[in-house]
Amino acid sequence: MQIGPHRFTGRYFLAPLAGVSDRPFRLLCREQGAAFAYTEMVSAHGLIHGNGQTESYLDRDPSESPFAVQIFAAEPEALARGAEAAVARGADLVDINMACPVKKVCGTGAGAALARDPAAVEAAVRAVREAAGVPVTVKIRSGWDARSVNCVEVARAAEAGGAAAVALHGRTRAQGYAGSADWGAIRAVKRAVGIPVLGSGDVWSAADALRMRAETGCDFVLVARGACGNPWIFRELAAAERGLPPPPAPDRDEWAALVLRHVALQIAHVRRRRPEQDPEAAERAAVRALRAHLLWYTRGRRGGAAFRRESGALTTAADVAAALERHFPGGGAAFEVDPAAPPPAAGAGDEA
Ligand SMILES: Cc1cc2nc3c(=O)[nH]c(=O)nc-3n(C[C@H](O)[C@H](O)[C@H](O)COP(=O)(O)O)c2cc1C
Repeated sequence: MQIGPHRFTGRYFLAPLAGVSDRPFRLLCREQGAAFAYTEMVSAHGLIHGNGQTESYLDRDPSESPFAVQIFAAEPEALARGAEAAVARGADLVDINMACPVKKVCGTGAGAALARDPAAVEAAVRAVREAAGVPVTVKIRSGWDARSVNCVEVARAAEAGGAAAVALHGRTRAQGYAGSADWGAIRAVKRAVGIPVLGSGDVWSAADALRMRAETGCDFVLVARGACGNPWIFRELAAAERGLPPPPAPDRDEWAALVLRHVALQIAHVRRRRPEQDPEAAERAAVRALRAHLLWYTRGRRGGAAFRRESGALTTAADVAAALERHFPGGGAAFEVDPAAPPPAAGAGDEA
């Protein structure tokens, strides 16, 4: 269970998620048992020119080792310089995003657009590997659209360029985050390359993640939307890997404690990024930034609808704590999950 020289204690990772897989959420998922977690995608150009927002993406907990930074750009030279900058700031592994579907990114030739040309993929991986001196992985989609599914060719090109692993999201760029992921593509890539393969797409539950491994033979599984509002998915997976029975779902108090810890971690994250900012303004910014997570945590739970109506007005950690008390009072039956609740929408994925 290794990528390059890095050994992992498990096969279930938190996927790169723009606006989601920041330092606080990565830490929470790792505490629950995620064996590894990628940063959200970071612009290689931003890394080279070093702006404040880009720096915040590189903020990591001291326990995060190895530390994996995902970068995006179109040109091998920019990717190479961006990777160097990421390594200079502590990255032990660099992932190249060749999967992002949004126009703003693809329009520059980066993200999923880069993977339209396998020769460009090979050149990008080679340039980054030579510049960075750390293992390089790539994240790709099954293809640009249904008529141009090229993931096997692209994965082989990445391997030829020296990639240490390839992650495949089994949807085309045209699908975005809709429709179902093609796990057959993951199986095909696993058969085609000798490097480890990470599977991604439609992992909504621990059972899905286990089934993806069994059906595709992939070495690792990336949990993406299935972890949003449910970092406990990783403790189920960690138990399954050890052959243990599924742990109980968090009870109301454990759930509320994690939500409030997320709020506290987010406030500390914002304050580290903007030490000059008034602490109360930083707290307000942190709670605002957490709104999507708060909706995910409360989705499908009894009391969730009333909480959601109020959530836009929450501005401090104390507000969140009081709203949780009000809408999710302690005690068994009051804390229920509605299994028919819809899965999280791509949401911030519009940026990715
Ligand atoms: C909100 C959101 C943000 C995402 N950001 C990134 C990103 O920064 N880099 C990346 O490679 N993939 C990104 N993805 C794609 C996920 O890593 C994953 O491949 C995809 O969601 C499929 O898995 P799922 O169907 O289990 O959610 C993002 C997806 C979502 C929903």
